Amino acid sequence: MVSDKVSIHGAWASRWVFILAATGSAVGLGNIWKFPYMTGMYGGGAFVIMYLLCIFLVGLPIMLAETLIGRRGRQSPVNALGALALESGASPRWSWAALMGMIAALLILSFYSVIAGWSLDYIMGMGAGQFEGISAEGAGGAFGALTADPWRLTLWHTLFMLLTGFVIARGVVAGLERSLRVMMPLLFVLLLVLLGYSMTTGHFMQGFHFLFDFQPDRLLDGVLAALGHAFFTLSVGVGSIMVYGAYMPKRASIGSTVLAVGILDTLVALTAGLALFPIVFAAGMEPGAGPGLMFVTLPVAFGNIALGQAMGTLFFVLVLIAAWTSSISMLEPAVAYLVERTRRSRVLITSVLALLCWLVGMGTVLSFNVGAEAKFFVFAVDGFHLFQWGAEGGRNFFDSIDYLTSRILLPAGGLAFVLFAGWVLKREAVREELAIDNPLLFGLVYWLIRVVAPLGILVVFVAELMK
Ligand code: PFF
Repeated sequence: MVSDKVSIHGAWASRWVFILAATGSAVGLGNIWKFPYMTGMYGGGAFVIMYLLCIFLVGLPIMLAETLIGRRGRQSPVNALGALALESGASPRWSWAALMGMIAALLILSFYSVIAGWSLDYIMGMGAGQFEGISAEGAGGAFGALTADPWRLTLWHTLFMLLTGFVIARGVVAGLERSLRVMMPLLFVLLLVLLGYSMTTGHFMQGFHFLFDFQPDRLLDGVLAALGHAFFTLSVGVGSIMVYGAYMPKRASIGSTVLAVGILDTLVALTAGLALFPIVFAAGMEPGAGPGLMFVTLPVAFGNIALGQAMGTLFFVLVLIAAWTSSISMLEPAVAYLVERTRRSRVLITSVLALLCWLVGMGTVLSFNVGAEAKFFVFAVDGFHLFQWGAEGGRNFFDSIDYLTSRILLPAGGLAFVLFAGWVLKREAVREELAIDNPLLFGLVYWLIRVVAPLGILVVFVAELMK
């Protein structure tokens, strides 16, 4: 029997709202900012192939697992996992996986807010016409000036965190639906316009080849990065999709819904890459520029086309919206959990958690300027150091949190969730939730959840350790 329970936090009006919400969560900075710069860093096509494999063989099965666990549990991820474990005769300690995911999501929010804040700065800059006719060096300089200024970064980081907290405090179900319906399609249209522009740069094919041709010797360079990014871009491994699943109508088909979300997310990432790289090449810049890629190349493009300032402003507004619909999904699992656990008001809990994430985010703010030399995870000749000022290797605060979440916590959380859905929940329960009538198709999907996705995660981990 499909569960009749309802979440105390509310429920989506239809499965379409789940698609909007989950796509809103999935499509974000990961697609428009991170995917293109990672592709640049890890060798173009070689990275794209690994990324696609990770999305379809590992990411989507986890998204399925999360959605069905959430919908069957009808509570925050921590409590859903605990209750379902008990129901299945397993240890309630499974809920620790969700607890870890919840913390990972808060850590991601801490730096996500800082980067999303950059788009606020660019909205103002573009709106004021500061990028009119700008050169590649000029745009690089403007970006450098922004990241070098902790006060300016703090201002936008604070504002973005307030935006996120505001929506969550009011309840996701109430405020979100209407804006998502307008903003998500608009984001698609704008990306397509940008793609159209990049086709006119004369470097479109160069960008295309960069994305889709691959050097076989680079295939393994970025496997763990590709896997980590597959998790990040689909928002899986932390419980965000699980908590949205808890608000999903009970009759909706999970399989096709999740597939739609995965395909939309992948399309946005590929389109962003196709739109960006020709512009990078046309401006004579390097695709391996790292995190600044979007914030340096796009202003050059927008600064030099007709109506560019208006379009650029609108583009960064949409980047902001994409980031905002993602950031709320990072906060929701923890807020839902604490509301269930403490029965305190949503507003109070949201405020405390947002403040906490804001504080941790200050570490990221400082990573780009005065704290750039504070290095963590340093492997040196004299051994391993957790922290060392000015060390040769190691990662700054932002890179450390990014590494810890994308490369370790998300895959570990994802592994726990698929194992739970595949091996702890009864086969009948999974069949009921997925509602896939064709036995062959169900067998295939179930095998992906039970065997392929967990093995994929393990193999990539081991391969990376042996490198
Ligand atoms: N999927 C988002 C993106 O690609 O920008 C990032 C994200 C959202 C990660 C929600 C984790 C999460 F829980």
